[in-house]
Amino acid sequence: MNRRRLILVTGSASGIGAALAKRLRADGDEVIGLDRRDADIVCDLTDPSQIEASIAAVDASLDGLALVAGLPGTAEPCAIFAVNTVAPRLLAKGLAQKLREGAAIVVVSSITAARCPLDDAAKDALLARSSGEIVRASGVADGKTAYEYSKALINRWVQHAARDFLPRGIRVNMVSPGPVATPILSDFEQSIGADRIAAAAQLTGRHGAPQEIAAAIRFLLSADAGWINGTELKIDGGYHALRAAGPAPAAFSKQAV
Ligand code: NAI
Repeated sequence: MNRRRLILVTGSASGIGAALAKRLRADGDEVIGLDRRDADIVCDLTDPSQIEASIAAVDASLDGLALVAGLPGTAEPCAIFAVNTVAPRLLAKGLAQKLREGAAIVVVSSITAARCPLDDAAKDALLARSSGEIVRASGVADGKTAYEYSKALINRWVQHAARDFLPRGIRVNMVSPGPVATPILSDFEQSIGADRIAAAAQLTGRHGAPQEIAAAIRFLLSADAGWINGTELKIDGGYHALRAAGPAPAAFSKQAV
């Protein structure tokens, strides 16, 4: 029988992280949930000293690290960068020596990262900084833009991490969802606009379910994804493809498919 895997999941108290923890436990994996409440490790990810203490609290070898926790554009820019960009980077770095060879890291990003206009060099210049420094250096003053930048920066970090962890056979990938029916969605309705969120569901038929994003993360954490590294899996119900394809011709129908 296979050894039980040990996987640390951030954002485990709600939404996608909770769905992932439940699914992994149902598979027989052991999960360490980390969140600011209702978790095995209670940690406020805006506070680097709490992140450090959380890393020290992990006293076993990990097979996987799912960095799911996130703050929406309704939060303060500094907190958004702290949770969405700095915390995943600090956790992965601090836990690196506790990750087994062949382990996997998955970061949850967002399709809205694509709205960030920065090139890779500009992202690299911000990446190593603290959240306060990122706010100052980027000049980003509103939550919506901070959210887009924070996810774009972590996407760029994934590319560096895929390279840096490769010698130990540790893969690093990201999952970028479109709108998913979790508590954070009402925040996105405020920061992005309820009409835009509703339009996405109209185009694709519905919002995603947290279990559907969890299933993709589970796959990327598994040996089945053994040659997938440094990549972004967009899960948007076809939103981007449908927008790019444009409206269906008038004669197009289910029969035509
Ligand atoms: P959620 O609000 O249900 O879960 C987010 C979790 O992150 C919560 O358990 C929360 O306590 C935790 N968290 C937030 N700030 C924290 C902090 N300072 N310290 C520790 N934990 C903290 O939302 P959901 O949908 O499960 O979000 C998961 C990830 O998916 C986030 O990174 C989000 O940006 C991303 N995402 C979600 C989308 C959606 O429509 N639901 C769309 C695109 C990306």
